[in-house]
Amino acid sequence: MQNDKIAELKKENEELKIENEKLKIENELLKTIIDNIHESVIAVNKNDEIILYNCESEKMEGLNRNDVLGKKEDDVYAPPFYFSDEVVKKVLRTGIAVIEQPYWYYLNDGRQTNMIFSVFPYLYKGQIFGAYIIFRNVNQMSDFIARTLEMRKRFFEDETTSQTGAVFLLDHIIGSGSIKKIKEEARSIARRDSPVLIVGETGTGKELFSQGIHNASLRSKGPFISVNCAAIPETLFESLLFGTVKGAFTGAVETPGLFEQAEDGTIFFDEINSMPLFLQAKLLRVLQVKSIQRIGSTVQKPINCRIISATNNDPVEAIERKLIRSDLYFRLATITLNIPPLRERKEDINYLAASFIKKYNLKFGLFVDNIAEELLNLFDEYYWPGNVRELENFIEGAMNFVQDKDKTLNLHHLPEYFRKRILSNKKSPVNTIVSDKKLQSVLSETEKEMIESILAQNNRNITKTARELGISRQNLYYKFKILGIKK
Ligand SMILES: Nc1ncnc2c1ncn2[C@@H]1O[C@H](COP(=O)(O)OP(=O)(O)OP(=O)(O)O)[C@@H](O)[C@H]1O
Ligand SMILES: [Mg+2]
Repeated sequence: MQNDKIAELKKENEELKIENEKLKIENELLKTIIDNIHESVIAVNKNDEIILYNCESEKMEGLNRNDVLGKKEDDVYAPPFYFSDEVVKKVLRTGIAVIEQPYWYYLNDGRQTNMIFSVFPYLYKGQIFGAYIIFRNVNQMSDFIARTLEMRKRFFEDETTSQTGAVFLLDHIIGSGSIKKIKEEARSIARRDSPVLIVGETGTGKELFSQGIHNASLRSKGPFISVNCAAIPETLFESLLFGTVKGAFTGAVETPGLFEQAEDGTIFFDEINSMPLFLQAKLLRVLQVKSIQRIGSTVQKPINCRIISATNNDPVEAIERKLIRSDLYFRLATITLNIPPLRERKEDINYLAASFIKKYNLKFGLFVDNIAEELLNLFDEYYWPGNVRELENFIEGAMNFVQDKDKTLNLHHLPEYFRKRILSNKKSPVNTIVSDKKLQSVLSETEKEMIESILAQNNRNITKTARELGISRQNLYYKFKILGIKK
């Protein structure tokens, strides 16, 4: 009988031990979760002594939880680094929560930041046992939201990007060293609204960066409106940008301009140095007064969009040559991202080539997983006037000649005109360049040659050629004009 009792007690003891262990694990798990959330959580008992102080609180206040636990707020904080404990005391007294109140808070490094806080009573068996305070750092949260929206875009790319017009994310941009640094800068400036000027040669990824910035910003759900300043006829530019009201001129109808279409989003002025000077003056005024007036209207409409612009000319030189007004330049270039040409970051060529091979493997159903040393060496020596776009065209062209069994991309896969170009251009023309004018003419010649060869390859089909070059039809027509190519 007694043995039975002992056995029963033992069993009960065992069960209690298991239960205890389970509670311990659950407790640890909850603590771990609280330590990993983005909010700062502090709990006090009935006597206003701190009984819980999570990791985010430590980070925010620069204190160690071991120095804080068990102490009263008055003993831990000295004014002005002092959370209004009146609020906590009131909650302890009344049992009524205080929800989502704004608050200025001093971070441990002395900086002020915007906070939203709530204080909840903690009731145990109907009695007030204590209270807990949850702080949300508003500045940090907006970064977090932008990052979440960017991730969401990555998961639902087709759904969201087709609506906004921006398909590229900063994560799509490949590159180490300088590009990685520019990507970090781009991610950080994306969260603010300051104008950005992107400077880089043709094909360096200016469009990619501008879309990436839009998609990493809080405006990512808004539209991305791209304006190619080189391709829009001068006479239409103004009405396109600002919109028109009915009867403003013969045939004018009520149309919103691109600025209005970019509401809540981003407007991207590509090739800004090609914008007519009289319009640059008008654009400057828009940036100053932050509102537009439709042609024929007297009403000022406020604008709410971020402005990104791009140029493939050196802006200082463009100012000297009177292509860009200096006052507009200073407005647009609050932040400048300089994207170096591919020849100055040769370490990126292998990664880029590998990623384009992967892309065209999928597209063409191939299994290439290597590039011949000989080809890589040629890539390394080549001048890359068309930068990353040119590299992608090389790879796409070569992948067209790959057979199902081929695993390595070789020199013999390159189309004849590519092979000629890369072999004849092995030596960088840099040594022979004495002035920027000459550089411009080398670039133009190569651009012309490239367009003509792709045009020939596509039986002079404009749509196909533009697609293959990764530029719009409008832009291609413009290039025909400036490079003297016959349609
Ligand atoms: N770092 C990169 N990683 C991956 N792809 C890139 C990168 N840079 C450029 N590309 C690719 O190269 C092509 C050209 O890029 P983009 O259109 O952004 O160049 P751009 O600087 O705007 O050129 P342009 O001055 O001629 O308009 C695109 O197809 C893009 O996907
Ligand atoms: Mg571009």
